[in-house]
Amino acid sequence: MTLEEKASLCSGLDASNTKAIERLGIPTIAMTDGPSGLRKADGENPLWGGNSIPATVYPSGATLAASWDVDLMESIGAALGRESQAQGIGILLGPAINIKRSPLCGRNFEYYSEDPYLTGQMAAAYIKGVQREGVGTSVKHFALNNQETRRMSVNAVVDERTLREIYLAGFECAVKQSQPWTIMASYNRVNGTYVTQHPYLLNDVLRDEWGFEGFVMSDWGAVDERVPALAAGLDLEMPGNGSKGDRKIVEAVRNGTLSEDVLDRTVERMLAIIFQVADNRKAGASFEAAEHHKLARKAASECMVLLKNDDAILPLQKKGRIAVIGEFAKKLKIQGGSSKVNPTKIDDPWEELLKLSRGKGQWTYAQGYELANEEWNEALAHEAVSAAGEADVAIVFAGLPRRYESETYDRKHMCLPESHNRLIEAVAAVQPNVVVVLCNGSPVEMPWIGQVKAVLEAYLGGQAAGGAIADLLLGEANPSGKLAETFPLDVRHNPSHFNFPGEGDEVVYREGLMVGYRHYEARAIKPLFAFGHGLSYTTFAYTGISIDKREMSDDETVQVSVTIKNNGGRAGKEVVQLYIRDVESSVARPEKELKGFRKVHLEPGEEKTVTFTLDKRSFAYYNPSLKDWHVESGEFEVLVGGSSDRIMLSTALTINSTVSLKKTVSRNTTLSDLMAHPVGASFVQGIMNSYGALGTGEAVSDDDRLIIEAALMNMPLRNLISDDTRLEDILAQINA
Ligand code: BGC
Repeated sequence: MTLEEKASLCSGLDASNTKAIERLGIPTIAMTDGPSGLRKADGENPLWGGNSIPATVYPSGATLAASWDVDLMESIGAALGRESQAQGIGILLGPAINIKRSPLCGRNFEYYSEDPYLTGQMAAAYIKGVQREGVGTSVKHFALNNQETRRMSVNAVVDERTLREIYLAGFECAVKQSQPWTIMASYNRVNGTYVTQHPYLLNDVLRDEWGFEGFVMSDWGAVDERVPALAAGLDLEMPGNGSKGDRKIVEAVRNGTLSEDVLDRTVERMLAIIFQVADNRKAGASFEAAEHHKLARKAASECMVLLKNDDAILPLQKKGRIAVIGEFAKKLKIQGGSSKVNPTKIDDPWEELLKLSRGKGQWTYAQGYELANEEWNEALAHEAVSAAGEADVAIVFAGLPRRYESETYDRKHMCLPESHNRLIEAVAAVQPNVVVVLCNGSPVEMPWIGQVKAVLEAYLGGQAAGGAIADLLLGEANPSGKLAETFPLDVRHNPSHFNFPGEGDEVVYREGLMVGYRHYEARAIKPLFAFGHGLSYTTFAYTGISIDKREMSDDETVQVSVTIKNNGGRAGKEVVQLYIRDVESSVARPEKELKGFRKVHLEPGEEKTVTFTLDKRSFAYYNPSLKDWHVESGEFEVLVGGSSDRIMLSTALTINSTVSLKKTVSRNTTLSDLMAHPVGASFVQGIMNSYGALGTGEAVSDDDRLIIEAALMNMPLRNLISDDTRLEDILAQINA
């Protein structure tokens, strides 16, 4: 290859293709968004704003994550893979897996969770599904693109532990488990450097530590300086920009500021994936739109979360008078404001409810509010309230109109439109049996929660969501989704509140590790609905927990089994969640952290045993001085339940670390640190004896002893050993 040919592979041809090199038989790769449906431009239309070819709209990322079902994720991935093959797409631009630092991030409807473990497992399954069909993925947006405000210039400032434990762990799991063909580097900077120019993130962590083998592409327009970006490991610049970047690369190689070896490595990575795509191309592939619509409906019903269901008002009886209220019932919001997919078909909830009720019950509809206009509409509200007053039950559809949540900007608050809140309250004033169906991509405050009997969080459920809502409301399907994020009572309770979206071009992640439930639990702040919460039409009993060892070293694994039984009269699925708590730790750790989950189907009366295997990583924190994950010796609790706030069973074990945290002992090491030091501890008695404060034989009261001991513990060795030569000698012995 000539130098120019090599450089030409380093940027796109246009908005969605890489460049071919005909002379050498190197084909292009066609790429498209993702993540929850294909958005392939129709003909000459540009990617942004233009029409796209019809494709199945699956539930959005936030919705899918609430399924807590890795098998479902994989089958959605595979369906997307088949659609990609049918449309000649080689790489699907997804999944989008940034952590939900704040409920206000405009793209939360695409992202999975506030928890990195759940994020990683779900992403890995999705990637496996897509790639199994011979289509690549692009895991995005790597990394710390947790807000839309100033997304192309903002600098996310984060400490190393938080970076590793919260923001990178999901990507790490996705890479290690499923080896995505590509990664998309995000727009923002991290600790001062653009991610697209970040050698630590792109080369040291992603490639050297995690073993990522594919190529890294930029988010669209995310490259600042092309040559440093290439040197940092950014292979492909997207979209095409008339080869401006390619020319800079050629020039830098010619004038010696960029080694050609660096370019060669990028070219090798590009060619490997270009030919992987070509080799996996299934010419003449097609997909069954009707089958995929069915899958989208099943998926949506597995994801929606039943938040509240007093007096078992749901499932609805198909009798009496039922008032369906709210324009969303006829014009459901099926997807969020980015990568808009053109659906092959849309189910609207009102029609699906009528279809499924098969002539039973008297159904009426009232619009209630206008989606196009946020203002309170007295006439529409009046009509809705009278319909509700005359009915036996009212179902109110409320949610966030499209402009409320989107790519490119963040939400300003966590409220529904005032007209929706007021309508729910007005309906509840005349009707005791109110069911609220919410259509939104991220948490909302619910000031009326005490006045309604049931809430179904339908999220953004894709093109078949209307059918799924009908299935769930009428009991054709049993709700089994669980929240993948906390719903705080008030946006001000969120830990990022004072530091989101930052000041100017800087956002400091001051809350550190305490993101989502980690924060609410640490601060004992009761949320509206906790992470992992979700009800069912049946009930589950957790009947026993066992552990195969009570003590182990950190290089072993341990198995924990729990038995769960369906106590109700209807088949259902429970998401069994396993959390780990470090009972005592020398570093700050959350109250507990999710380290395992399993979605289990149970017939009425059926019982199953679920086994989890836990390894070092399940118990570890990231230790920046070790530059590694570390488990501190001591006791850990294994907590199992149906939600983060409903732990049903627990057991404990002791772990012995195989790693000693070697610390150099100095003049300023305190006595307490010396006592914890593996070698130093044996010197403590000698030092104490010679210090003699407590050894004079005089009676010392218990209170005084306590004070003196505490003072001693905080004393540096220089205060305890006055003879400098002796001190030097002791330090030398310990450190040797
Ligand atoms: C988005 C990406 C998307 C890309 C291509 C960017 O603005 O951030 O998620 O894949 O556009 O459409």
